[in-house]
Amino acid sequence: MAIRVSISNPAPVVIADEQLRHIDAREALLEAAFGPERFEKTSERLREGRLPADGLALVATAGERLVGTVRLWNVTLGPSRPSLLLGPLAVDGTLRAAGIGGQLMRAALGRARDEGHVSVILVGDEPYYSRFGFGAAKMDKLWMPGPLDRARFLGLELVPGALDGARGLVSPTGVEAPRWRDVELPGAWRIAA
Ligand SMILES: CC(C)(COP(=O)(O)OP(=O)(O)OC[C@H]1O[C@@H](n2cnc3c(N)ncnc32)[C@H](O)[C@@H]1OP(=O)(O)O)[C@@H](O)C(=O)NCCC(=O)NCCS
Repeated sequence: MAIRVSISNPAPVVIADEQLRHIDAREALLEAAFGPERFEKTSERLREGRLPADGLALVATAGERLVGTVRLWNVTLGPSRPSLLLGPLAVDGTLRAAGIGGQLMRAALGRARDEGHVSVILVGDEPYYSRFGFGAAKMDKLWMPGPLDRARFLGLELVPGALDGARGLVSPTGVEAPRWRDVELPGAWRIAA
């Protein structure tokens, strides 16, 4: 017998580690949120060819449905200051403003803190990210490997003072993704973004 599911009573949202089985749905969500231009972003230069930071790729699911995603990436600020780059963060367009983005952010930042990371940077809307403590302070002497809107270049100290004196180029330090040249992969696998 078919079970009717009321859309006014959706499945609870769960935040969990991203798995290989989430890839196709995640790509579809990112395509809908950002379009193909996402691969042209300067932040993408720090993500392409790398794996996300260990334990810091999270998804939000409601039942079997993937409804949100966030990843963090290992970078260095200048030659020797380890940090994390956050992004992309996206929530299913039909479920926005229900707190899912906030849940993903708090889970990701909590994990990053627990793992001993000391700061997080991102390129995004200050009016949204400021609620999690992100701001432009101490970011002015840092550079990204491409065009940068400084008003959107934000940082968060997980440990007080972690961004004091930060200067130089932001560079990727994450584990390099395996090269899949000869391997048949499921679906629309893309390591980047
Ligand atoms: C940004 C995004 C992830 C937020 O997810 P969400 O689940 O809707 O967020 P929450 O429910 O936790 O928070 C909603 C609040 O954030 C606000 N908000 C959402 N996007 C915002 C933005 N770009 N700037 C300022 N405020 C924003 C909403 O107006 C709402 O405000 P309220 O709490 O006063 O009602 C989601 O809107 C999204 O996927 N947008 C498209 C992709 C994107 O822009 N990603 C961020 C850049 S990487």
